[in-house]
Amino acid sequence: MTYKNKILQTTNKYFLENSKKTKRKTYNMKNKIKSLKQQAKIAQGILDKKVYTGPWSVQIDLTNKCNNDCIACWCHSPLLGDKAMKPEIKKKFLTYETVIKLIDDLDELGVKDIYFTGGGEPFMHPRIFDIMKHIKSKAIHLDMSTNFTLINEKIADQLIELHVDHMNLSLWSATPKTYAKQHPNKNKNTFRRMEEMIEYINKRKKEKKLLKPELGMYNVITIHNYEEVNKMIDFAFKHRMHDIDFTPVDTVPDRTGILKLNKKHRKIITDKINAMPKQIEALEKTYNHKLEFRNHHSFLRRMQNPDADSANYDSDILDSLPSCYAGWTFARVLATGEVNSCLKSFKIPVGNIYEQSFKDIWFGKKQRCFRKHTIDYDKNNPYFDNIGNDRSIKKQGCYKCCDNLGFNLLVHEKISKLNPVKKQLLKIGRVI
Ligand SMILES: C[S@@+](CC[C@H](N)C(=O)[O-])C[C@H]1O[C@@H](n2cnc3c(N)ncnc32)[C@H](O)[C@@H]1O
Ligand code: SF4
Ligand code: SF4
Repeated sequence: MTYKNKILQTTNKYFLENSKKTKRKTYNMKNKIKSLKQQAKIAQGILDKKVYTGPWSVQIDLTNKCNNDCIACWCHSPLLGDKAMKPEIKKKFLTYETVIKLIDDLDELGVKDIYFTGGGEPFMHPRIFDIMKHIKSKAIHLDMSTNFTLINEKIADQLIELHVDHMNLSLWSATPKTYAKQHPNKNKNTFRRMEEMIEYINKRKKEKKLLKPELGMYNVITIHNYEEVNKMIDFAFKHRMHDIDFTPVDTVPDRTGILKLNKKHRKIITDKINAMPKQIEALEKTYNHKLEFRNHHSFLRRMQNPDADSANYDSDILDSLPSCYAGWTFARVLATGEVNSCLKSFKIPVGNIYEQSFKDIWFGKKQRCFRKHTIDYDKNNPYFDNIGNDRSIKKQGCYKCCDNLGFNLLVHEKISKLNPVKKQLLKIGRVI
């Protein structure tokens, strides 16, 4: 099986499982039909190069404020120096009223999935619980990325009560020592306390016979933790986590570049990951627990990309894709109110929700321009010079690390397999 197919299989599985579980436990029949219609409208829009509905998934940066200074962070790492997020931007957060209006607009546009990320730490937002409550009242799937350090027993109980669906915990470590090394303003006890909180959530879910929130362990892999990947798997099993994810550190040259993995590190890690199925099989028996290894194949492929020495992880696979579909499936709203078409397009915002409604932005000229460039995807078009996290590099492009890749591949697979009957069904699905 090719890497592309393996990535597809994993993403497909994740996508289907998520929708299956969500359907089973949260959605009623009406929502199931709404989901199918949303899929049909998105697919038909791609085929017609038009837009009939909103995106599938939207990421919201509730705030840029953060209580951590993780060593690799694009915004708050102490290594960034003059490339760190500017202090006036670090203070930005979306007002409660703005987020509520945004959620209402997204619901009207049929959005199925909201993901909190940053910018900063979602739990630094003063009204996060009211916002989560509003999202769950619309039966929208709610997931997030969090550093987890602000979670205490009371907050954990609220997360269970609110039926938050999933949380990605940015731990980046399996031991207190490695955690402290990568989080300069935290210490070994922070890690131990987080372990206690994971166990507390497990205990409360068990008492209440609930499965959510599912907890995922998210690991950005750097020179500080690459040797710990097996221990990370042990950790995830020990704490009965739902899933684990590894991603190579995306660096800012001349700043966090010192954290990137060299050829030797990548070889060691590739060998470790290749040998992992045995470890996982044994742990499944010991703990009587299944762990979802997300993006397993995508991580391996990234480790072996011919251009990985320059921290360009996705050049090989992007060249095999004729289109990028993010303009139909995805949007991100930053803490400043700016709207981005993909996870790497912050240099070309398509609007600001403080000035226009999300709906107007989504159907507006700049988003149309993004779609026009991405559907007939010529990666050498100067338009793509604006893609990338590093503000100082002009011609970075999509090759470095496309964080929308998994979903793009899945959409591509589905679109290219459509036969005439399915195409006809899509047309019907779009108009009913
Ligand atoms: C910037 S953080 C904001 C959300 C939250 N504060 C957290 O840390 O999870 C968003 C995501 O980026 C990841 N991340 C941060 N720096 C990264 C880097 N240099 N390369 C890859 N991922 C990174 C984090 O682990 C997290 O999953
Ligand atoms: S917790 Fe998230 S936003 Fe804060 S410094 Fe770490 S990666 Fe950056
Ligand atoms: S990085 Fe490039 S390929 Fe990836 S979503 Fe953005 S525009 Fe599309």
